[in-house]
Amino acid sequence: MTIDAATIDALFREARTQNKWKDEPVSDETLTELYDILKFGPTSANCSPARFVFIRSKDAKQRLSPALSSGNRDKTMAAPVTVIVAYDPKFYDKLPQLFPANPDAVKWFTSNESLAATTAFRNGTLQGAYLMTAAHMVGLDVGGMSGFDNAKVDAEFFAYSGWRSNFLVNLGHGDTADLPPRPPRLSFDEACLLL
Ligand SMILES: Cc1cc2nc3c(=O)[nH]c(=O)nc-3n(C[C@H](O)[C@H](O)[C@H](O)COP(=O)(O)O)c2cc1C
Repeated sequence: MTIDAATIDALFREARTQNKWKDEPVSDETLTELYDILKFGPTSANCSPARFVFIRSKDAKQRLSPALSSGNRDKTMAAPVTVIVAYDPKFYDKLPQLFPANPDAVKWFTSNESLAATTAFRNGTLQGAYLMTAAHMVGLDVGGMSGFDNAKVDAEFFAYSGWRSNFLVNLGHGDTADLPPRPPRLSFDEACLLL
């Protein structure tokens, strides 16, 4: 089954990165709905290492502000929500719950630090992408950001949990008045091989 063209437009072809935000709040219900969609995106051994911090209050935005690059600061302060897309390096502690089919799975990672680190980052990043696509599904616009100091964010927000920040995503309803033209994408021939 193929989904309809309008849905593909909403999720990808017409989904733009937003840099200006309308002053419209995003409810707890919408964020819960967003998570309850993105959580179904697949991860290896169902490990689900991503953790999401939804920053909405002025107070929490102020805590985030010093870590942001100057180009990302004003738009992040204006966004109704900024998500810290993070991951738990000790994601494997939850494998007995998440992957009951194989009780040995936790040992794959406790016995191999490098595999655990790669798995956490790879799958946590995938889940960040699922979040961006799911956001469009619940009617939100997005603006991804990697221009910030991860160590500062981790010290401010994750000193106790040990989670690590990956990237940030502004969420809300975009003000498209000054949206720049869309940057081009690579063609199929440039980006793909058919073997
Ligand atoms: C992981 C990630 C990090 C990004 N980092 C930044 C950033 O720090 N600052 C910024 O202004 N835009 C950032 N962007 C936005 C990209 O530049 C934008 O998505 C890209 O140019 C495509 O634009 P479009 O989504 O409107 O087609 C980021 C996007 C992603 C997905």
